Amino acid sequence: MKVDPAAALVGHAVVPGDKSVSHRGVLLGAIGEGETRVLGFGRSADTRSTIDAVRTLGVQVDDVADDELVVHGVGLRGLQPGTVAAGNAGTLLRLLTGIVAGQEGRFELTGDESLTLRPMGRVAEPLSRMGARIETTDGHAPVIVEGTGDLHGIDYTLPVASAQVKSAILLAGLNAEGPTTVVEPKPTRDHTELMLEAAGVTVRRRPGSVTIEPPSALRLGEVLVPGDFSSAAPLIVAAALLPGSELTIHDVNVNPRRTGLLDVLERMGAHITVFNRRRAGGELVADLEIRSVPLTAADVGADEVPAMVDELPLLALVAAHARGTTVVRGAEELRVKESDRIAAVADALHALGARIKPRDDGWEVTGVPARLRGGRMDAVGDHRIAMLGAVAGLASREPVEIGGAEAVSVSFPGFFDLLESVARR
Ligand code: S3P
Repeated sequence: MKVDPAAALVGHAVVPGDKSVSHRGVLLGAIGEGETRVLGFGRSADTRSTIDAVRTLGVQVDDVADDELVVHGVGLRGLQPGTVAAGNAGTLLRLLTGIVAGQEGRFELTGDESLTLRPMGRVAEPLSRMGARIETTDGHAPVIVEGTGDLHGIDYTLPVASAQVKSAILLAGLNAEGPTTVVEPKPTRDHTELMLEAAGVTVRRRPGSVTIEPPSALRLGEVLVPGDFSSAAPLIVAAALLPGSELTIHDVNVNPRRTGLLDVLERMGAHITVFNRRRAGGELVADLEIRSVPLTAADVGADEVPAMVDELPLLALVAAHARGTTVVRGAEELRVKESDRIAAVADALHALGARIKPRDDGWEVTGVPARLRGGRMDAVGDHRIAMLGAVAGLASREPVEIGGAEAVSVSFPGFFDLLESVARR
């Protein structure tokens, strides 16, 4: 796939439903009571894996429309044992491990080559403490859970800031005896907590920790899925970099635990207006308007990483266009995402002419307010790296050829068409 340089991004855009919320809508709907209608569902390879997973475990899911599903819940302990292939979806693998820990029977969970390289010990360890019988393959998938239906709540401090691990523990806690508390070193996305609250669970939130009481049942009824901030981010960044851009993105999830990119872009001088704020389900939703102005470097530290963990590759690209040197620190988690994103971003942007040096925990990027050269980069099978290449193509002097661009379908199948619809050349 080749992406040509553009002059600006102009017009209006709507992005697919939030992937994190879509996964959770299907998973919680599956162990809920009666029907859960998921509206605004974001279809992608990852969320397809989640639908397939719950169907494998005996849950009926009706495809009502492209962005609408009905999940027929089987109740908190009603999943049937089985073998689940989670594809590339880390969120599915981690959250489902927590859910099946409290069911009866033998569950085997695995994933594609990239997913089986990602750490699972961080999930298995706390679940074992809760009484789960769980075996990983040297700390990775395949994971085998021999559910006993006999868990007890724990009070657990996460060693790494991870919403997936936090969620796995809370979801196991639904079927445990007594309350379950998770203490986080830094606040991570709270979609699980918000959706559990909406389902009627007692969720006590204090700064730095969350506690749930095991409920007798989950009753969601309806889940409204707002647009995915992480899918809006490539458009936000492209519009911020291309002079003359005037882009509005509608109905985006602006949960503050997801929008760290906006805070950093603002520090760099960007003009982004967040307006029409409202609630949809438990989530905060808004429209965003982006205009381009020259940007300056801004450092990012460990405290800011969780709220922009999936947007850091794009920030590195912004930094390559911003006057001065940007250092990103405390982002070592990027090494265990769908690819080693510290290496993948450094290789990709270096190939396109950026001055970027990888660090163990991030990058150092020296930017100039001029276009990159362009050229060829490889997505290394990672959807976010493929989207990074596309934004780089719009903002470079010459086209960018993306090897393995089809990886975008993991989270955003219509990405290239949407980008072309707002690009002005
Ligand atoms: C996600 C949490 C994040 C994020 C991932 C989705 C979630 O992972 O990178 O894309 O839906 O909970 P970690 O929690 O492992 O940082």
